[in-house]
Amino acid sequence: MDNVISVEHLSKTYGKTTVLSDVSLTIPKGAVYGFIGPNGAGKSTTMKIILGLVQPSKGEVEVFGERLTSRNRRDFMLKVGGMIEEPAGYSHLTGIENLEVVRRLLGFPRENIEWALDIVGLGQAKNKKVSQYSLGMKQRLGIALAICRRPALLVLDEPTNGLDPYGIDEMRDLLAHLAANEGTTIMVSSHILSELEKVSTHFGILNKGKLIFEGSRSQLLNAHSPSLFVRVDNVEKCLSLFPSASQVGGGVELPGIPDHGITKVCETIIASDLQILEVTRSRESLEEIFMSLTAER
Ligand SMILES: Nc1ncnc2c1ncn2[C@@H]1O[C@H](COP(=O)(O)OP(=O)(O)OP(=O)(O)O)[C@@H](O)[C@H]1O
Ligand SMILES: [Mg+2]
Repeated sequence: MDNVISVEHLSKTYGKTTVLSDVSLTIPKGAVYGFIGPNGAGKSTTMKIILGLVQPSKGEVEVFGERLTSRNRRDFMLKVGGMIEEPAGYSHLTGIENLEVVRRLLGFPRENIEWALDIVGLGQAKNKKVSQYSLGMKQRLGIALAICRRPALLVLDEPTNGLDPYGIDEMRDLLAHLAANEGTTIMVSSHILSELEKVSTHFGILNKGKLIFEGSRSQLLNAHSPSLFVRVDNVEKCLSLFPSASQVGGGVELPGIPDHGITKVCETIIASDLQILEVTRSRESLEEIFMSLTAER
């Protein structure tokens, strides 16, 4: 089984409003799946359905190759950690007591509690009541509650909400650490695209209830084949070699050249006795790609 999450033809309607429309997505084992989309696109709803918190109107959801039923629910909760929107936690209990509640329910080893509190940076505040936590501390507790079972799958909806820049950095490191050292498959939504860009291996883009892109990081970054700039000693001659080329400064710009086309471009230039002085690529950021994909529709 190579896919940890497999969602097929998922739809969700509330009354007459369609919130998700025929969404199919797959999350391979070991992926850090960045789930992005504008406000109201349906990200939280999709994640709630995957976690079994909301019933779909249509479609199939399989996690670890199984549909969630009342019989496998406990096993599911041990394997899957989730945090949706507001972080959970009883405010009259301390951080450590909150994790103990989950431990008693699910029965994982006691040392997981210290591990989870330390890894989210709540080690010092673990004996403080949650009612005295700051927003960022509550967010960290929510993450600790999700990871304390050392899940094989982690579903986090905007985990950086309310975190300061250090917290955002730490969250990125935490996700990278869990993926690399614990083999955790992670589905994570965020509006901070620059952070997801650093950590995600795969992306799904949701817009107005429809999945408009799904693929690996390189598929997304190459989806809009970036242009190539080549500085040469004879711009005019170089322009004559490529019909689509335009002059930019002391060189030519070639639109839509994929990575595997770069060698061919250079060979063509060299074969015409030109000197290559510089080859650069102006790659679009995830933010730019996201804006152009979601603005089109
Ligand atoms: N329980 C509900 N009843 C009715 N409509 C709902 C309900 N939950 C969500 N919606 C609607 O579904 C749509 C998608 O909401 P959802 O929370 O999934 O979006 P999102 O992509 O997570 O947005 P955000 O980035 O703001 O968190 C919104 O239009 C929302 O109003
Ligand atoms: Mg949301």
